[in-house]
Amino acid sequence: MTELQYDQAVKGYFSEKAEAYDDVDLQPYWMLSDRLLATALREDVLSRLPEDFAFLDAGGGTGRWTSFFAEEAPKSTGVLFDLTREMIQVAEAKAERRGFADRVEFRQGDLAEVGQALQGRSFDLAFNFHNVLGFVADPEQTIKDVAALLKPGGLLVSFLPSVWHAAFFNVGIGRLDEAEKALTGRGRFTDTMPDMHLYDVERIEKMHAAAGLELDVLSGFPNLIYPGYQETQLHGSTDQLVDILAGENFDRIFAMENKVRSAPGIAGRGNNLFTVARRPA
Ligand SMILES: C[S@@+](CC[C@H](N)C(=O)[O-])C[C@H]1O[C@@H](n2cnc3c(N)ncnc32)[C@H](O)[C@@H]1O
Repeated sequence: MTELQYDQAVKGYFSEKAEAYDDVDLQPYWMLSDRLLATALREDVLSRLPEDFAFLDAGGGTGRWTSFFAEEAPKSTGVLFDLTREMIQVAEAKAERRGFADRVEFRQGDLAEVGQALQGRSFDLAFNFHNVLGFVADPEQTIKDVAALLKPGGLLVSFLPSVWHAAFFNVGIGRLDEAEKALTGRGRFTDTMPDMHLYDVERIEKMHAAAGLELDVLSGFPNLIYPGYQETQLHGSTDQLVDILAGENFDRIFAMENKVRSAPGIAGRGNNLFTVARRPA
């Protein structure tokens, strides 16, 4: 598959999902994962930014995390940059509805060209959450291009798909070919999704060093509960996970997860890897 064909496949995949994408907010597993990410962002990221920071939501999709930053920091301004028009349309409508549309710019484009598209701009914070660096053609180059858009001292925050989790997940549903492929660093969770780049600690460390970034946080989560097949879809949840996360269990599991997410060496166990990196001042 050529790069263009791959981009078309990614765009097609997300354009079909755009309208219902935010239904993931109703799945207990994603609620847990999002609450952990929000907590990590408050502790490790927001506390280090000026009040009126400028952000770049790279592969921002329907604006779930643009909303988070715009609402947590009412003086912030941002750019949501995404490949898929339909995802951006959902994000724009959300910004209008929630009253921060005047502080966020929406740009359609391929992250392969983000340097040219945003030439002359600079950001205190750039972030890419949930598989964005899985889907770009050349993640090592994308990190360099995004790093170049950071102000000195600016932060790059990523939430990346784990190679180990992808292999574990596919073994668990009996898809050994996919598990073997995942261990080569490229794989997927369902047979309708395009293959993604998958990450381990070594690749993450190398790609940040090559982009001249200093890694301040390298963690991973969730660690104690993993998504089932149903959680890879927009609707429905794996029955067992619904039961496990029911009632007060949700808060208890959240508390355990939140405690272990900073444990030394935990990163590789996470379903996703979480990083906070800094462009040296
Ligand atoms: C799984 S969604 C995540 C959306 C959002 N970051 C979130 O956490 O809710 C991945 C997003 O990456 C976008 N994307 C994939 N490849 C891209 C590329 N090469 N350039 C820009 N955006 C891309 C897709 O269009 C999609 O909206």
